[in-house]
Amino acid sequence: MRTQSRATFTPPFGTPQVNPTFGASSKGQESDKIVGMTAPTATKIFADRIGRIEVSATMAVTAEAARLRAQGAQLVDFGAGEPHFATPRHIKDAAIAAIEANFTRYTVVAGIPELRKAIVQRHACDFGSDYAPDETVFTTGGKLALFNAIQVLVDHGDEVILPVPYWVSFKDIIQYAGGKVVFLPTEEAENFRITADAIERAITPRTKVIILNTPSNPAGSVVSPPDLERIVKLAHARGIFLLLDECYVYLKYAGAPVSGGSFVEAKEHVIVLGSLSKTYAMTGWRAGFALGPKAIIAAMSKLQSQSTSSTAAIVQKAAIAALNGSQECVVEMRADYLKLRDRILEGLTAIPGITCTKPDGAFYVYPNVSAFLGKSGVKSTTELASRLLHEAHVVAVPGEAFGTHEHIRLSYAVSHSDVDEGVVRMKNFFAGLS
Ligand SMILES: Cc1ncc(COP(=O)(O)O)c(C=O)c1O
Repeated sequence: MRTQSRATFTPPFGTPQVNPTFGASSKGQESDKIVGMTAPTATKIFADRIGRIEVSATMAVTAEAARLRAQGAQLVDFGAGEPHFATPRHIKDAAIAAIEANFTRYTVVAGIPELRKAIVQRHACDFGSDYAPDETVFTTGGKLALFNAIQVLVDHGDEVILPVPYWVSFKDIIQYAGGKVVFLPTEEAENFRITADAIERAITPRTKVIILNTPSNPAGSVVSPPDLERIVKLAHARGIFLLLDECYVYLKYAGAPVSGGSFVEAKEHVIVLGSLSKTYAMTGWRAGFALGPKAIIAAMSKLQSQSTSSTAAIVQKAAIAALNGSQECVVEMRADYLKLRDRILEGLTAIPGITCTKPDGAFYVYPNVSAFLGKSGVKSTTELASRLLHEAHVVAVPGEAFGTHEHIRLSYAVSHSDVDEGVVRMKNFFAGLS
């Protein structure tokens, strides 16, 4: 490769006239001035929309944990929501084979036909749905499916109903699109249950979208099948779009998994967001999808065509292997998560002052730590999580990130020994607060 010496390098379009400083604050419209320019030509650098969102709290916690780890700290990491399992062998083999076969070029934006067929067949087989291959788009993670769906559906001022506690990204993605988040509180005493009645009460003439995440991140709550059916039908009857984030759909502990995409008669208003990240331990592969009405999927694909284009070709081959292959790995991982859930619940609830709802799915617990707020100068769960990290070397995400002020989120997708060690550390840490 030709290299260019620093001394002789000349910018192709001449010396830049401005010297932008990029503020550390994600909200920093005030500091986002172009240094060296005088009024009236000085303008803000950043568009308003980027000021409407914050850095993902889980990513921020992960970054701080990585910093401590690099300094040699032995952390018990309940922070990141990702499986501790390796991606199953047959999925990795498919990606390796794709590389060896030089399947390494651009593909059609929405995913190769074989993959779109695999997505709809898997869903039909598991949930009895009836989607055609052009009713699905494969995305760079479930997060992009969500992002693109919101961007194509939500306009400035549109209301989006979001049950609390919510996964961090929902709020910011809605706000980025200019939508108005309508928070729908749930009751901890009722396991953060979301009911059709509560959703119905939150609907106004401006409601464009309802978001449901079941099983949920962070509380692991599951919408009951009768409520799910009522919500799907209610949304359809009112002409409101239901965005169903089902990225933990296979991690439901009691009864068979249920998808809102299986109510064929209401399909027109349902968009299912799926992810291979948690189901097949593939977080780093960035593999997700949406299922929905053809016109919405086409609009999402159009948006994707102007941003990421298709996902990585080799990831598409791996996804086909995941979806078409044996699902035994999913069953095995779920069985382990269930054991881990019971283990961490037992340990946590034995800690004086902590109470915790029993999650019915996903791999998070959401303990109530309000008994410790006000002790030893700790005023918020953000401060509590920070002290837990720095003093006990336990990584947790503060409840403020999920819209509540009395909880922390712990991901138990870790080894059994980490659960035990983490519980001991938390017990000592909390006992030390006075
Ligand atoms: C509720 C929920 N939806 C979507 C995602 C996105 O997953 P991915 O982009 O890895 O598919 C996550 C990840 O943590 C999540 O918890």
